[in-house]
Amino acid sequence: MPVSDLREALSAVSATSDDLAGVETDWTGRVTGRALAVALPSTVDEVAAVLGVCRAQGVRVTVRGGGTGLVAGAVPDDTVVLSTRRLDQVGPVQDGSLVAGAGVTLRTVQDRARRAGWDYGVDFASRDTATVGGSVVTNAGGVHVVAHGTTRAQVLGVEAVLADGSVVRRLAGLAKDATGYDLGQLMVGSEGTLGVVTAVRLRLVPRLTGLETALVGVASVADAVALVAAVKQRAAGLRAAELLLPEGVALVREVAGLPALTPAAAYVLLEAQGGLEDALGQVDVVDAAVALDAASAERLWAYRERMTEAISTLGVPHKLDVSLPFGQLGPFLAALPGALGGHTAHVFGHVGDGNLHVNVLGPDPEDETVDDAVLRLAASMGGSIGAEHGVGRHKRPWLHLSRTPAELAAMRAVKTALDPDGLLNPGVLLP
Ligand code: MLT
Ligand code: ZN
Repeated sequence: MPVSDLREALSAVSATSDDLAGVETDWTGRVTGRALAVALPSTVDEVAAVLGVCRAQGVRVTVRGGGTGLVAGAVPDDTVVLSTRRLDQVGPVQDGSLVAGAGVTLRTVQDRARRAGWDYGVDFASRDTATVGGSVVTNAGGVHVVAHGTTRAQVLGVEAVLADGSVVRRLAGLAKDATGYDLGQLMVGSEGTLGVVTAVRLRLVPRLTGLETALVGVASVADAVALVAAVKQRAAGLRAAELLLPEGVALVREVAGLPALTPAAAYVLLEAQGGLEDALGQVDVVDAAVALDAASAERLWAYRERMTEAISTLGVPHKLDVSLPFGQLGPFLAALPGALGGHTAHVFGHVGDGNLHVNVLGPDPEDETVDDAVLRLAASMGGSIGAEHGVGRHKRPWLHLSRTPAELAAMRAVKTALDPDGLLNPGVLLP
């Protein structure tokens, strides 16, 4: 079928967009693909109709949310882009949860929750653009995983359209429901390969006030890890434990115009309900800047929040998002230079979760030598090659480092059962 006819068939069942360029590249600029058309359905029936047109024409579909993903999981490959942005309905807060369409931004969920006296347990810097649907299918993490778990832990129910156009819907959010396979949780982390998530019921968390925030300089990465261990044990309601290194701090200061910090070998940004002072007394600390109000806490968070943007001013980074057993964080960082092939890396991350973001600068976008070396290093230390960004296209060749042949076969069997023709997100997640 000529592309013009395909676009006409799609426009008969859903809104479409001519802005193909806006959906063809991943956020980092590392990967660009080709979209045949962009469909913008605004109801679950329209999503099913878009899939029906594509199925009938033998054209495959790439599902795309806010476009803030970092593993090229929503970059088209001669596919129709199904944008979830118009699935933007939000229901009322009821019994500590709400239903949000896949295209609702994280910020909107947070705002709705806070207005009702609650909070949403997931937060990360791209909150204004990232969508609920994208965060669910990548099982996104962010800065509050130490307190609330990843997105998976917030998902109480899912509505999704399967490749054959059927709709699975469990949005009631019953506290107990032991009636078989949890199809909603199966969609979490599926990266759009098993169905198009159209809406989710999200658990909300109590809204905390009077949080303590501190940016603590320490003499070594080992001390940073020891500090986080002490804080986990002693501080009440730990909400965030983020690692920054001096090179990253210098960069973010330059880009964001932030004041200098006392020189240290590593910095840990901590947020807790109480007990930080007690925990800080247990370890050697070079310096600690403590926020006394919300405005000063925001100033401390800026060193962490602006990091991704600051790194992207240096070029197209190879973003390697690994997690490690807590005790291996120091050894991993010590061994990392040997895996970089002489390139530089900016490392930061969610130290409380054992999750480091290794941003390598220098290699050509298509050169995967350094990706291979760093991911193998993490896997050899018992870590994961994809902690919170997902697998997408980038990490697919290394999935076997984190998943056994039996697991990969089971994943493939699930994919084949739900999407036998490979309609959804080809090239993503599974080898
Ligand atoms: C973050 O923690 O800021 C995000 O995962 C984004 C990134 O890794 O750059
Ligand atoms: Zn992160």
